Amino acid sequence: MANYDVIIIGSGPGGYVSAIRCAQLGLKTACVEGRDTLGGTCLNVGCIPSKALLHASHMLHEAEHNFAAMGLKGKSPSVDWKQMLTYKADTIGQNTKGIEFLFKKNKVDWLKGWASIPEAGKVKVGDEVHEAKNIIIASGSEPASLPGVEVDEKTVVTSTGALELNKIPKKLVVIGAGVIGLELGSVYSRLGSDVTVVEFMDAVTPGMDAEVQRTFQKLLTKQGLTFVMGAAVQKTETAKGKAKVHYKLRKDDSEHVLEADAVLVATGRKPFTDGLGLDALGLEISKRGQIKVGADWQTNIKGIYAIGDVIDGPMLAHKAEDEGMAAAEQIAGKHGHVNYSVIPGVIYTHPEVANVGETEETLKEAGRAYKVGKFSFMGNGRAKANFAGDGFVKILADKDSDRILGAHIVGPAAGDLIHEICVAMEFGASAEDLAMTCHAHPTYSEAVREAALACGSGAIHA
Ligand code: NAI
Repeated sequence: MANYDVIIIGSGPGGYVSAIRCAQLGLKTACVEGRDTLGGTCLNVGCIPSKALLHASHMLHEAEHNFAAMGLKGKSPSVDWKQMLTYKADTIGQNTKGIEFLFKKNKVDWLKGWASIPEAGKVKVGDEVHEAKNIIIASGSEPASLPGVEVDEKTVVTSTGALELNKIPKKLVVIGAGVIGLELGSVYSRLGSDVTVVEFMDAVTPGMDAEVQRTFQKLLTKQGLTFVMGAAVQKTETAKGKAKVHYKLRKDDSEHVLEADAVLVATGRKPFTDGLGLDALGLEISKRGQIKVGADWQTNIKGIYAIGDVIDGPMLAHKAEDEGMAAAEQIAGKHGHVNYSVIPGVIYTHPEVANVGETEETLKEAGRAYKVGKFSFMGNGRAKANFAGDGFVKILADKDSDRILGAHIVGPAAGDLIHEICVAMEFGASAEDLAMTCHAHPTYSEAVREAALACGSGAIHA
């Protein structure tokens, strides 16, 4: 048993970042993690491994589609799936070991095991009860279940099983055209699977700017993915390593069946709080299973905080990280803050999709007058040289003040490009501020400047 200023439950991006910040602020800190490695879903079975597979499969795509045109000739690479999984495992290992190193460097204790909170000020791990002046719950999320769909993580899988399939499926059905479905659907499509995505709504990636949704779906269709839209999956059946997916079209209630070698269920995630003993504690939880917190991330019980996927807001690693740092600062008596209106979202397909702030739809709904500055990557020299001319940058600015309200990018390195707009928004910049900033040539970021110019007197290369 030990005494701590802070015990953090969970070592995902929210928890481990929070632990490091707490330690940096002079607080005696421990982090509880029950997995064999640190890093939570993101590092072990989420963001990092999926990016390894996206990178490898994108390299294959480049070799198959663009090498010959660039004068790079020879036998096209074949896929050694076992080696690709080893590469993915190595990537995970390097990252999780990195967190272990950072914990040692910052003197954060790793309490190994699964935690529960018997009462405020106490955290039980295994048979030991530790004292903590403050507790931060950062236990993350798990895949939401779908009625009629039984996940076995072999034939019918969540994102976790999809990263470990024992072979590349000939036919893959993806349920849900959200971030997970489209990223992993892309991976398997590039590796040769015949991928069909079944989506309940009429557009992919709900909540995104509608023009981005349409462009993105078109580009993925061109890459070979098939979409069945407006379709509610009713149930799946499995037999002898094959699956059947039954769905109903919303427009006419007609029933259909798809056969598959594997089915990926990607219909959202829900907070993971099992075993923490929150009910007995009397911690306030919403109907959706999210822990309720105040502006300082403190729950209804003094000294117990919650951050990341267990609370309200987008389930994004970087949102959890920011909350983790801010909660640490609050505990240390400082003024931790998160600007929820400037949280970027990125889909790591190719091209990438990135967004921040308002969409045209949210602005229309709010009745706010806005202007649109748009620039196609077709007009960007670097993109053309790199076979990356698909997509655009769209900046939304206030009609009168020119203040940037949101931005949407489909295109090469969109996930990196979005950040200059995030910084601009943090500073309350106008589109003209971006447009007047010199951007190096030839870079993809010139497309951002051109979109900003298009909010004013016009883009040059349009
Ligand atoms: P999601 O919420 O992004 O998408 C789920 C999709 O499934 C929706 O389009 C929904 O309409 C559809 N759906 C629900 N029930 C259905 C049914 N019965 N039949 C057909 N379609 C149905 O959820 P997803 O992709 O599972 O991701 C979970 C969370 O993980 C999200 O919050 C996401 O932001 C996060 N994530 C973020 C990543 C990133 O930032 N790059 C990568 C992976 C996950």
